[in-house]
Amino acid sequence: CALPIFAFFPLIFQTVNVFHGHTKNTNFRKNEVRTMEKFIVRHSEALHGTVRISGAKNAVLPILAACLLTEEPCTITNVPPLTDVMEMAELLEEFGAETSYDGLTETIRICSETLSNQQAAEKNACAMRASFLAAGPLLARCHQAALPLPGGCPIGSRPVDLHLKGFSIMGAVHKLEHGVVELSAKNGLRGKRVYLDFPSVGATENIMMAATLAKGTTTIENAAAEPEICDLADFLRKMGAEITGDGTDTIVIQGQKRLHGATHNVISDRIEAGTFMTAAAITGGDILLEQVRQEHLTPVIAKLTECNAKTEVTPTGLRVYRKGRLRPIQLKTMPYPGFPTDMQALFMSLAAVTKGTSVITETVFENRFMHAAELQRMGADIKIDSRSAIIEGVDSLTGTSVRATDLRAGAALILSALAARGETEISDIYHIERGYDRIEEKLRALGADIQRSKDS
Ligand code: EPZ
Repeated sequence: CALPIFAFFPLIFQTVNVFHGHTKNTNFRKNEVRTMEKFIVRHSEALHGTVRISGAKNAVLPILAACLLTEEPCTITNVPPLTDVMEMAELLEEFGAETSYDGLTETIRICSETLSNQQAAEKNACAMRASFLAAGPLLARCHQAALPLPGGCPIGSRPVDLHLKGFSIMGAVHKLEHGVVELSAKNGLRGKRVYLDFPSVGATENIMMAATLAKGTTTIENAAAEPEICDLADFLRKMGAEITGDGTDTIVIQGQKRLHGATHNVISDRIEAGTFMTAAAITGGDILLEQVRQEHLTPVIAKLTECNAKTEVTPTGLRVYRKGRLRPIQLKTMPYPGFPTDMQALFMSLAAVTKGTSVITETVFENRFMHAAELQRMGADIKIDSRSAIIEGVDSLTGTSVRATDLRAGAALILSALAARGETEISDIYHIERGYDRIEEKLRALGADIQRSKDS
């Protein structure tokens, strides 16, 4: 498990380049092509039809990291071919794991039998924050890890202090040099009580994974309760971990000597589902979503109902439609089961074309209103006051050129462009493809006028 520092050098130099991925049988597109592409979106009438929701990106990423905890092979199904998934697979290969992805069955197979000090020459730098989720598993299995400190991103500084607090309490020491966090626990990790100052999703996941091989019992207090945490816990239990309390604010993990391989089908993506639900609301359409877990969508269903959209559970999925006028909204993003921060930008697009005054408050990230400026370019009337956005609905937005500043902001711009008069060009769409598989194909199948094109 020796992982000398040079194994991570390529991870430190953040570049956007072409994947020289060693992940075989992939259907992933090359980053270089993505960076130079844009979406052309024209006004679209009400969307109608059926859409199959893909597996959840934010469940897949920690589950892939968890495969480092065992030397036995793991098979993960319902894994969409997203760039974030490719980057995580590349990262696992940096550590010596073998991965292979089958795009036809959306299945990835991972074997971390030997975590060697594989030289990761010419590998794509992992600019993705979720790469830090490898820290817990590596620390637990190899008693050491060295990962680039995740950089900030448009939505916030994205610190990892709570991850490091948990690892320290469990007996690890860490130092930061040249932008790399070097962690070590030469006697292994010990089960301890860890209180999280904020119910951080990533910190809960990282500490839970680390605790599965610690000596003794770990209790995570003020833990995050997102459905993706429960899906990770389900996978870890299939590997032989003993975990209770996932989905509540207190999770208890009994450390084991080792974990074994497992097969797991990932839950569907509640944020992709929410995106298409909001598309139905904003265009006044009628969409049937297949492969959704509506119990994960309670806050989104509640707020869409307040906006005068309707939802109906049918034998084949969740139907979302709107007949009457939209109503303005008041919403505040909160940790689960509160309204998800990842749906905030989508609802701002909805509020922008809803007559009346809406107020959206973002409590989870400190800078997650970047999309407001792009929406204003389309004619939206939005005023930002600290953590709140006050939106006065306008009769209609107008198409123009805008830029995706982050994953969910990009999706929000697509929805606004569908409702706007005229044509909108959305650049930097590689952000969108980090979390949405073939979004333009899925929207076109519902009647949207959206095309992918080369960006000058
Ligand atoms: C996960 O990010 C998701 N990403 C995010 O989805 C999501 O928005 C977020 O959880 C909140 O639900 C993945 O699961 C891969 P956090 P994560 O740790 O784990 C602060 C998307 O669009 N914090 O819960 O990074 C932090 O600054 C992405 O799919 C600390 O202060 O989120 C933030 O304000 C975007 N110290 C808040 O907690 C820490 O050590 C929430 O962060 C960790 C976090």
